[in-house]
This record gives sequence, C-alpha cells and structure tokens, in this order.
Amino acid sequence: MTSTRLLNLLRPLALLACALPLAWLLWAGLHDQLGSNPVEHIVTSTGDWSLRLLLATLAVTPLRKQLGLHALARWRRLLGVWSFVYALLHLAAYAWLDLGLNLAEILHDLMTRPLITVGWLALAFMLPLGATSTNGAIRRLGARKWQRLHRLVYLVAILSVLHFLLKKAGKHDFAEVWVHAGLLTVLLGWRIHDKWRKGGFAGFFSAGPHSCGHAHGPSTTPSRPSDAMGAQIAPITFHRKRPATGKDSR
Ligand code: HEM
Repeated sequence: MTSTRLLNLLRPLALLACALPLAWLLWAGLHDQLGSNPVEHIVTSTGDWSLRLLLATLAVTPLRKQLGLHALARWRRLLGVWSFVYALLHLAAYAWLDLGLNLAEILHDLMTRPLITVGWLALAFMLPLGATSTNGAIRRLGARKWQRLHRLVYLVAILSVLHFLLKKAGKHDFAEVWVHAGLLTVLLGWRIHDKWRKGGFAGFFSAGPHSCGHAHGPSTTPSRPSDAMGAQIAPITFHRKRPATGKDSR
C-alpha cells in the first residue's frame, strides 16, 4: 500500500482521535471522574489539547516536505480546526463554568492578568483563521489573501506558548513549557531555513498562489474543488511566484 493511500485511510481515524479528549471529558464529567476540581480540569485539558493540535498543525508541512508525504497536506486543516474547537471550549469553560459568564469579572481578568490577556490575544488572532477555514471562505477570499491571512498561525502559536509559560511560571513548573517552546522553535526554525534555502524572504508578504505543480495550495479553480476537510489546502506556504514546471521540484 502506498503512503498516500495509507495516509488517506488514516485521516478519518485522525479525526476521531482528535475528538477523543473531548469525548473523554464528556464521559468523565457525566461519571463524576474529573477530580476534585472539575472546572480546572476542563480548562487545562482543553487548553492543553488546543496547543498540542496547534503545534501538530504547524508540523504538517515540515513532515510532508522532509518525508515526501504529500498526502499529509490533507491533515492540516483537520488538525487546525480541532485546535480551534478546543480553544473555544477552553474559553467557554473559563468564562462560563469558572466565571459564570460574569462580564465584569471577565473584563477585570482580561485587564489585570497577563496570562488571560495573552490568551485572549491568541484567541483573537485564531478567530479569523477558524472563520475562514471553510471552502466557501477560501473561495471568497481568494488564494493570495487567504494564504497571507493564515500566516497569523505563527503569531497564534507564539502567543499560545507564552500563555502556557505564564500559566506554568506561577507554579515554577517549566518542564512542559520547554518541550512546547522547543518544538515551536524547531518548527519556526525549519520554516525560516526552508524559506532562506529557496532564496530569501522577498516574496513573503506578497506570496501568490502556488505554481509548483501539485495541489497543495488553496485553489480558486472551480474544476478542482477542495474536499470537505481541505484536501488541497496547506494554509502556510512560502513559495514565491515562479514559472510552473508541471512537477514538484521541492
Ligand atoms: C480567551 C482566550 C483564553 C483564555 C481566557 C484562557 C484562559 C486560561 C486559564 C484561566 C487557564 C488556567 C490558568 C490557571 O489555572 O491558573 C489557561 C490555561 C491554559 N491555556 Fe488558556 N486561555 C485562552 C486561550 C488559550 C489558547 C488560544 C490556547 C492554546 C492554543 C490556550 C492554552 C492554554 C494552556 C496550554 C493552558 C495550561 C494548561 C495546563 O496547565 O496544562 N489558552 N487558560
């Protein structure tokens, strides 16, 4: 079996795997298994999963390119959307279960606790990414604008790790933070190196649609629609415009 076939077969399983932490939280909540502080458990668990899936989203392109697993491009939006779902659940758990939707307290936290301010910032930058993750939004925006917008994912990841650091700094417990920060550094470092290898950053802010021959960028071409989970969509690309060669030269 080819790796492409295997990855395509595993994709529905990946989707189910992403839903498992949520299913477990629901089960544990219904069976009184969330420990002595259920709300804290839900807030930390949803925050942890949102961050993990965000880093997994960023790992897709390096893995795809380094290992030549092009079918991995189809996993990217799946992971990104789940990261967004967990971030929304995280916010809901904090604002609703923890603060009882008390707007004054929510605003007070936002203004006085750096941890919360950074969390809100991360979520604020995540919102346009989540809101434009549908095929319709991609078509409406156009490939170029969409790709530029989705570079925000790097800022979201940096803010999310900072948010995690601020949480753990309160307890002087940095082990997990270094793992996440290390991973993010490797992933960002890979991007910078990849971009530099291809000739610098001149086209970074004006990158156009792909021209490298295979379907891994957002397409506005009606004859090649993307599937429901973004088969053709690899949100982050650093290609500058170059003549189409008809084959993938990367
Ligand atoms: C409106 C936005 C957000 C708010 C209000 C918020 C709030 C919180 C709160 C109250 C905690 C627990 C702090 C404590 O126990 O002292 C927390 C922890 C955390 N949050 Fe957020 N957060 C937000 C956005 C995010 C986002 C976007 C991510 C990730 C992508 C994230 C990831 C985490 C992580 C990983 C933790 C630590 C969990 C642990 O201790 O294992 N948060 N957040």
